[in-house]
Amino acid sequence: MELKFKKCLKCGALINVFEDSKSDFICCSEKMVDVKPNTLEASFEKHIPNYEIKDLEIEVFVNHVMDNDHYIEWIMYQTDKESIKITFKPGDTLKVKFKYQKKALLYSYCNKHGLWMKEVL
Ligand SMILES: [Fe+2]
Repeated sequence: MELKFKKCLKCGALINVFEDSKSDFICCSEKMVDVKPNTLEASFEKHIPNYEIKDLEIEVFVNHVMDNDHYIEWIMYQTDKESIKITFKPGDTLKVKFKYQKKALLYSYCNKHGLWMKEVL
């Protein structure tokens, strides 16, 4: 199940919803817009989550800076049963483990370059 993301163009708030809803999501008195995750690296910087499968676990990492003004805010692991979001702050190590599940979706969110996604094979 792929998540849908909506963003407020005024304050930058980002939410995720599990299904498309006919009703609009409002923030700062305006309709939030759809955000599609990037799946191809377009620059030198790396944003797409990488992973290694070890036994029954998946170790996820992102090769990205964790500076005060530029960092990965969170990594999300989405399976057909659950959605786990791990938040980070500048200086943190971008590495986290989850229970491996084939076809899960991995998301990462950079405070400057937005939303990225990779499917677990
Ligand atoms: Fe970035």
